[in-house]
Amino acid sequence: MAFLKSHSIWMNGKLVPWDDATVHVGAHALHYGSSVFEGIRAYSTPRGPAIFCLDPHVDRWLGSCKMYKMPLPFSRAHLRDAIVEVVRANDLASCYIRPIALRGFGGFALDPRKYPVDVAILAFEWGKYLGPEALEQGVDVGVSSWRRMAPDTFPAMGKIGGQYINSQFVAMEANDHGYVEGIALDVNGYVSEGSGENIFVVFDGAIYTPPLGSSILRGITRMAVINLARELGFTLIEQNLPREMLYVADEVFFTGTAAEVTPIRSIDRVTIGAGKCGVVTKQIQEQFFALVEGRAEDRYGWLTYVNDVTLASRAEMRIAVPAE
Ligand SMILES: Cc1ncc(COP(=O)(O)O)c(C=O)c1O
Repeated sequence: MAFLKSHSIWMNGKLVPWDDATVHVGAHALHYGSSVFEGIRAYSTPRGPAIFCLDPHVDRWLGSCKMYKMPLPFSRAHLRDAIVEVVRANDLASCYIRPIALRGFGGFALDPRKYPVDVAILAFEWGKYLGPEALEQGVDVGVSSWRRMAPDTFPAMGKIGGQYINSQFVAMEANDHGYVEGIALDVNGYVSEGSGENIFVVFDGAIYTPPLGSSILRGITRMAVINLARELGFTLIEQNLPREMLYVADEVFFTGTAAEVTPIRSIDRVTIGAGKCGVVTKQIQEQFFALVEGRAEDRYGWLTYVNDVTLASRAEMRIAVPAE
């Protein structure tokens, strides 16, 4: 997948050229994974670029920061505006947006709370995450030998940099085995999620997805798909899923900001259903893309039209870093 850098990055309160948005090699985050980030998409619509679920993403970002005891030196309103601003400044019709807050250079103690926090927001063009044909034909995946972290080890609900070493092991193993992606089980052996996607299983007339207790990220596409599936009249059940349910499912699909709604056509080389995008997945996919591309009514208020946003005043939005 080609990666195209854009020209400006919002960093610590202002737009800077892409190549100038740097951190020191002593930054705590580089050594210990002390960062909190988001992944957001803006879609091209007839009314210009629209950011999908901007507020849920900002809230999840701040929620991850709260879990991780990393207050940000900017208000919520400022960060929300900055996300809009970086899409506008780069003149992007559609893009992937990567906000990140990280512990910068200050020292090497494991408690990083005295060290500075850097905040940056990147926006750049990005194609289909799991390959150009993935959305139509489905992907071949494998169950990983790497488990998701146990609930009392890392906060799976937080999108925290260091935790993605676990995702990297899952992704690397999958690729080494010739799969596009891996599915991790939770500490109890139930299905958890992909390295960067939530998972849904269509089985015996209902749609199932693992609960938050299965060490999943609380995916925003997952939330959207749960709403759309229920609106379409499907029964949607959040419950622990045994691994073998994957093999006998009628359909299985991934959801994620990067992966969108991607059908899975085989797992561990076992064909799922008819081995192509199933009818339920197709319906959900169609609803999802119609909504995010502004072709269907935005009945949930999920779209923020970048050109319609009036940015609030910077000076008023700047807040002091709370004392630790
Ligand atoms: C581990 C993990 N699970 C699930 C998801 C899907 O979440 P979302 O739909 O919010 O992108 C992601 C992507 O952010 C992820 O990194």
